[in-house]
Amino acid sequence: MTGLGKIAIVGAGNIGGTLAQRVAEMDLGAELMLLDIVEGLPQGKALDIQESAPVLGFSTRVRGSTDLRDVAGSDLVILTAGLARKPGMSRSDLLGRNAQIVRGHAEAVRDHAKQAVVIVVTNPVDVMAYQVREVTGFPRERILAQSGTLDSARFRWFVAEALGVAPRDVVGFTLGTHGDTMVPVLSHCSVNGVPVRRLLPEEKLHAIVERTKKGGGEIVDLLKAGSAYYAPTAAQAEMAKAVAHDEHRLLSCSVLLDGEYGFRDLFLSVPVVVGRKGIERIETVDLTAEERNLLELSARAVTEDLKLLRAIPSA
Ligand code: 2OP
Repeated sequence: MTGLGKIAIVGAGNIGGTLAQRVAEMDLGAELMLLDIVEGLPQGKALDIQESAPVLGFSTRVRGSTDLRDVAGSDLVILTAGLARKPGMSRSDLLGRNAQIVRGHAEAVRDHAKQAVVIVVTNPVDVMAYQVREVTGFPRERILAQSGTLDSARFRWFVAEALGVAPRDVVGFTLGTHGDTMVPVLSHCSVNGVPVRRLLPEEKLHAIVERTKKGGGEIVDLLKAGSAYYAPTAAQAEMAKAVAHDEHRLLSCSVLLDGEYGFRDLFLSVPVVVGRKGIERIETVDLTAEERNLLELSARAVTEDLKLLRAIPSA
């Protein structure tokens, strides 16, 4: 299967480095450029990953650079750089600092990779994606952010664990923001079509929903320094593969809404079809009244964060 010409990953920390490894091993592009401001870090990780190619059999040419202009010619750019949470912090606490970082990266994409599809990962991700859209002016089809793919993976795992079934057989997704007000959608969660509500009692489902909402924080508390990166990069790679192989996957991704679900001018995770050009279409699914109310709260949380973004000079 053919992949992309060039993929760039900005940020070579735990997320960027692990994602680069996954993207290279999946052979999603002929060329993979890993970028970071720390001299030696992207070059070192890129070379280390490249040297695994003879053993693992991938063909991707992996390079590292500290020069942002090396995003040039990318078909897909994944923005991961920024500070990660420490115990006790919310994703919104990262807003000010990460907004400055992401602005510079978005400018580089605008100036040097005009045709790229962009996947935004830096937190608070729904707000950072909004900023990327403002800075680049790219059509909304070409900017998607990871929230739903990761949160859905956590949700599905907790259901699989509770039922003792294969994780891949749990079908389900989350909507809304990548924060405590996200909405794990029980009404559409099933084990290969069997509604989860028939399989687990309400109190167990409630506990799963609550654990999913705090899934990132649970890992931050365990790690004590830094946040999760194995499940996040698996979810990002799932999105990157949908683009690279034009898969038309139905995934929950954060996208700029323009009236869908009753919201406008903010990024929220909703089910979208993802292919080579980015977002092919947004799907509107039926929600229960409770899920609908929770989605409203999620949108309000993002709106509050957007006010903070607008208050940052030059953000
Ligand atoms: C998480 O939920 C990194 O925000 C990310 O783990």
